[in-house]
Amino acid sequence: MAIDLRSDTVTQPSAAMREAIANAPVGDDVYGDDPTVNSLEERVAALFGHEAGLFCPTGSLANQLAIRTLVKPGEELLVETRSHIVRAELGAAATFSGITTRTWPAEDGLLSAADALAIAHENAGPYLVSTKAIAVENTHNFGGGTVQPISEIEKLATSAHARGIAMHLDGARIWNAHIASGVSFTDYGKHFDTISVCLSKGLGAPIGSIMLSTKNRVNEARIWRKRYGAGMRQVGIIAAAGHYALDNNIARLVDDHARAKKIAKAIAAIAPSLVDPAKVVTNIVGLELSGLGISAAELTARCKAEGLWISALGPHYARLVTHLDFDDAQCDEAIEILQRCLVAK
Ligand SMILES: Cc1ncc(COP(=O)(O)O)c(C=O)c1O
Repeated sequence: MAIDLRSDTVTQPSAAMREAIANAPVGDDVYGDDPTVNSLEERVAALFGHEAGLFCPTGSLANQLAIRTLVKPGEELLVETRSHIVRAELGAAATFSGITTRTWPAEDGLLSAADALAIAHENAGPYLVSTKAIAVENTHNFGGGTVQPISEIEKLATSAHARGIAMHLDGARIWNAHIASGVSFTDYGKHFDTISVCLSKGLGAPIGSIMLSTKNRVNEARIWRKRYGAGMRQVGIIAAAGHYALDNNIARLVDDHARAKKIAKAIAAIAPSLVDPAKVVTNIVGLELSGLGISAAELTARCKAEGLWISALGPHYARLVTHLDFDDAQCDEAIEILQRCLVAK
């Protein structure tokens, strides 16, 4: 069977997770009657020290609902150049919410508070767009799974809040950041007005993200979720997988991180320009192929022919993501395939 490292979203629900799904007590969530959804929303909100949570089918929706509670049409959200919100949500902030975005670039996606603050312009009217919120992605997906330094988050949040600018956390992989850094969920949570977290990435649930904030913002987001057609009924059968994921799949992320590091070291041993293993601190290995004479599409095709699936995310950028359906034996096999494909002429 192929080894699939295209993303940490490709995992299969385990038998135990399926059992939790089968046994979940459910109700109509549009009426607020689903006990499994309600307890999951409360649980995740408490974990991050926020007042309330809203269960969403995707991380993109959780991000978009959150930012529309912070930024009005014609106002501005600042994000890093390669962040998911601006690169991979297909213009949703502009399309659905009339929000303009402006970006600052950061090496490996790593946050520098000064860079973000330098382009912020609150109360800029009547000629310029006013900045209302700044979003931080942690871990940073297209930055190579990098973990944002809590000191920079704190600096940015303190200055932004003093200037009346709100903070949003795209925490699709905040679980990986927590495991890699040791920073608690509440220490991350306290700096942000809104948060989105995903249960369907490294934690292995089939579906599910939670938007977190104050009761007022979550109530507003609940209305917009329904307006977008994502008010769901007996969705506790999915939320149950989220509870199972939180119970069982956070601590084990350390194994995903170790395997990603092992892959990075093995690749760097034969092609040092591709990846710096010191920068691979979570479950994502980004390969910068410029100068190697092979495109990302070509490497991806070669690997696929040998039974290893990876992603080409740019002409010269390929990505591998480790996850809970990827073990040590597969890791060794993946390394052998990558080494063969990288040296092949
Ligand atoms: C950093 C980040 N944020 C948000 C999302 C969106 O999640 P979804 O695919 O559930 O919409 C992703 C998905 O890969 C992501 O990597």
